[in-house]
Amino acid sequence: MATIEEVSVMIVSNASQGHINPTLRFAKRLISKGVHVTIVTTQLVRDRMLKYNNVTSTNTNSQNSQNKQIQFEFFSDGLSLDFDREKNTEIFINSMRTTGSKNMSSLITNLAKTRDYYCIIVDPVLLTNIQNLAIQLEIPVAFLWMQPCATFSISYRYFSNINSFPNLDDPNEKVELPGLPLLKVRDFPTYMLPSFPQHNRQIMVDMCQACDNNVKWVLANTIYEWEEECVKSMSNLSPVYTIGPLVSEFILGENEKNNVSMNMWNAEDSCIDWLDNKPNSSVIYIAFGSIIELKQKEVDNIAMALKNSKKSFLWVIKPKLKGYEKDATKLPIGFLEETNGRGLVVTWCQQEKVLSHPALACFMTHCGWNSTVESVSSGVPLIGYPFWLDQPTIAKIIVKEFGNGVTLNFEVNEVPSVEEIERCIKEIMDGPNAKEIKNKAIEMKEIARKALVEGGSSDKSIDQFVKDLVHAHNFARA
Ligand code: UDX
Repeated sequence: MATIEEVSVMIVSNASQGHINPTLRFAKRLISKGVHVTIVTTQLVRDRMLKYNNVTSTNTNSQNSQNKQIQFEFFSDGLSLDFDREKNTEIFINSMRTTGSKNMSSLITNLAKTRDYYCIIVDPVLLTNIQNLAIQLEIPVAFLWMQPCATFSISYRYFSNINSFPNLDDPNEKVELPGLPLLKVRDFPTYMLPSFPQHNRQIMVDMCQACDNNVKWVLANTIYEWEEECVKSMSNLSPVYTIGPLVSEFILGENEKNNVSMNMWNAEDSCIDWLDNKPNSSVIYIAFGSIIELKQKEVDNIAMALKNSKKSFLWVIKPKLKGYEKDATKLPIGFLEETNGRGLVVTWCQQEKVLSHPALACFMTHCGWNSTVESVSSGVPLIGYPFWLDQPTIAKIIVKEFGNGVTLNFEVNEVPSVEEIERCIKEIMDGPNAKEIKNKAIEMKEIARKALVEGGSSDKSIDQFVKDLVHAHNFARA
């Protein structure tokens, strides 16, 4: 009979910033439960780990596993290290599905010869071939869903034909779905919409089919109490284990040294010193994750609204990759001088450190789920500025379910106006509801902290998952 001490899992992760951080954090949680974790990801992650993260070696050996460190294993996705994967998603996905998938399969097959893996935990975006491979290797598969339960529920109900949906070409059509606030089509994840590239929609179709066939567990980076009705509504369809928030513990006020983030770019730590000199709750933090690239009009409008607001701000504008510099947007002439002293623009930062800084007042975010989870777990109110993917749904949840933020109103395919950005800044910092929003933010943080302590809802979900792994393993070997 197997015991928890013997459990080994493999987590296969996409090399994007938004996927590698929650993967690392989940790995750490499993390790704290005594599980051995191997992370399988691409050479790009190895390259960035060495370049930007004070890591001197990513070599792993058996001693690491005894010390319960993460074991890293890398494969090539078939593209050169400086290829812009975010900008060329179709080429990236194709390469992953062909060369990458072949390399990944042979790595996983070889790893399975060296250890008795109880489960392969996979990012659904990387599903290709892993399902079939896992069947051959007789290893069960789990999904690590890096979005809220809400987008899983909406997608599953749509792609598996569970509920009836209105015409998705009309952004104003309304739909009522179990466990969710009243939604309009404009609030749906954009990867569901007919206008979205077919290869990305196919990923969702494959994922929903896999949930009905051989994926045994869906693990979501959320908290039961954050999305209770939605989680309950999925229990008879495709149950979700709520194992979030996948954040570094220090942002919940625990374990100060525990910083579990990986930078895919060089973080400018000087911004922390800059924040140290700002009064409490005074700075607007603006960042749009790792993929979004603002258009010039968007930069101009944000800049103008910041200038007019007279508030302090820290703004992340990601650098262009080598060879793409000419496409970079520019800050309006004179902007930095005119806001001198109250504004700082950096190319990348350690976001969790920034979010946990007392100088922060609010976070203007694209509503990427990691940024949202990190902000909610830090008790920082949000200004939602959603672009695409899961972000419109997350913006809706922030306002309708969490109550810890506001969201910009603007038409699909249009750019939020200067006045609208200013309105949101005023509302969240000085408006009549500002105090209530801040109180709600603190309440949400407290829920997050409690979920992770021993016996909390997420802690129990992780325990249950590990127990399930042992049962499944014993059953398969019986
Ligand atoms: C992508 C999708 O865009 C998003 O919609 C989905 O929910 C997850 O995958 P991304 O756009 O990168 O992710 O955003 P997000 O999920 O917020 O992840 C960004 C990560 O980068 C966060 O962990 C954040 O802490 C980190 N970050 C961001 C930094 O460390 N420094 C920065 O300056 C900005």
